[in-house]
Amino acid sequence: MRKKNIIVVGLQWGDEGKGKIVDLLAKDADIVARYQGGNNAGHTVVSGDLSLVFRLVPSGILNEEKICILGNGVVIDPVVLFQELEDLKAIGINIKGRFFISYKSHIIMPYHKRLDIARERLRGAGMIGTTGRGIGPAYEDKVARLGIRAVDLINRDLLYKKIVLSLKEKNHLFKNVLGEDVFNPDDLIEEYLNYGGKIQEFLIDSSIFINERLDKGFNVMLEGAQGTFLDVDHGTYPYVTSSNTVGGSALSGIGLGPTKIDEVIGITKAYTTRVGEGYFPTELKGEEGRVIRDKGEEFGSVTGRPRRCGWFDVNLIKEAGRLNGATGMAVTKLDVLSGLGKINICTGYMLNGSVINHLPFSSADYDKAIPVYEEMEGWSGDISSIKSFKDLPVNSQKYILRIEDLTGLRINMLSVGKERMQTINLKNIF
Ligand code: GDP
Ligand code: IMO
Ligand code: MG
Repeated sequence: MRKKNIIVVGLQWGDEGKGKIVDLLAKDADIVARYQGGNNAGHTVVSGDLSLVFRLVPSGILNEEKICILGNGVVIDPVVLFQELEDLKAIGINIKGRFFISYKSHIIMPYHKRLDIARERLRGAGMIGTTGRGIGPAYEDKVARLGIRAVDLINRDLLYKKIVLSLKEKNHLFKNVLGEDVFNPDDLIEEYLNYGGKIQEFLIDSSIFINERLDKGFNVMLEGAQGTFLDVDHGTYPYVTSSNTVGGSALSGIGLGPTKIDEVIGITKAYTTRVGEGYFPTELKGEEGRVIRDKGEEFGSVTGRPRRCGWFDVNLIKEAGRLNGATGMAVTKLDVLSGLGKINICTGYMLNGSVINHLPFSSADYDKAIPVYEEMEGWSGDISSIKSFKDLPVNSQKYILRIEDLTGLRINMLSVGKERMQTINLKNIF
């Protein structure tokens, strides 16, 4: 039987613990590839004394001999990428011959970053709360057919023409609408050609590369960034990121056909967090939220912003399960809930007198949809070194079983701490 190909995807608003789970699962995957997003992602991997936050490089890279790829659907800021590669080199991680980039991936340019930040300022109170990394403007340029692809960085004439074209409208915008300095292509060309010189050795066609290896019996794990409700189509629009984050986009973001995928594993926290603005029905704005934030160290790994915290939301997870075709899930940060007297699970939203089991269709209804809760007894004590489900406090077992029951999704892994070994395996994935 051939080895399984899997997609790992966030089921909430990002930061579910994808980095930890991907790092763990990478021992069973020959290739780990990212398919969307850019350095808006921050995926933490903790291994002994080492705590690393990956922005672009797939979280599987610490597993020696595994091949890691950035697919065509990823947007790459070369400044961040080469810093990240330097950081890996400094801790002795050898990437030679095992890290590759799709030649079709798009490049985040300095004008994308300036645009992202200036637009947020212009929106004022209606700001999205983006990471300010230029993600949205880079994807806009891709769709507007103004983007610069990784392969363009190695051709001076092509690169220059493309920068000039891309800046035609943007410089008007900077000068006349946003009150920002304009960009001169001559100031960008040498720096980005230099990146081209450095990126060249990594360029591949991710579709050819992966499909050829799958034919030879290798397997692949596709690592999602952000989370289902930050998806530009299916998320809490307009408070979303600018890419499709759901499992379906993993295929186009790498150049793989849907028939190749065996499992889709969704990652969710045992509660909910969100960073940035937008709808969050189960948010705890008072003391309980603060307790979870402090205990869970819920501060953005990219921007350091405090993450908003709230109860587990069955509506979201069921919806995410459907949108991703999830075959199972990993639940992280169960340890953070220890010590709370009562724990709530949101089972639906009350809107205009009836209970709905999906996100409200119109964003105008978001604030009117009130969560309906089921209350559960909490548990106490440090559970972070527990190795099997039966040794967990009975109330935490009940909580987990209730989540499985209500979401209809089977839990493969339970994470009770940030370290690799602080994980309880319930059902094998590979
Ligand atoms: P990602 O973006 O989905 O990879 O998640 P982040 O790395 O942004 O955020 C997850 C945070 O939770 C990181 O600081 C992890 O080290 C940490 N973490 C992951 N799993 C657990 C867990 O089970 N318990 C605790 N306490 N921390 C965890
Ligand atoms: P990982 O992969 C959490 C959020 C931002 C903002 C919105 C749009 O670590 O889970 P963007 O810069 O993408 O245009 O911002 O999306 N966001 C994330 N939140 N985790 C992430 O990535 C995120 N990437 C973007 O906070 O609300
Ligand atoms: Mg993160």
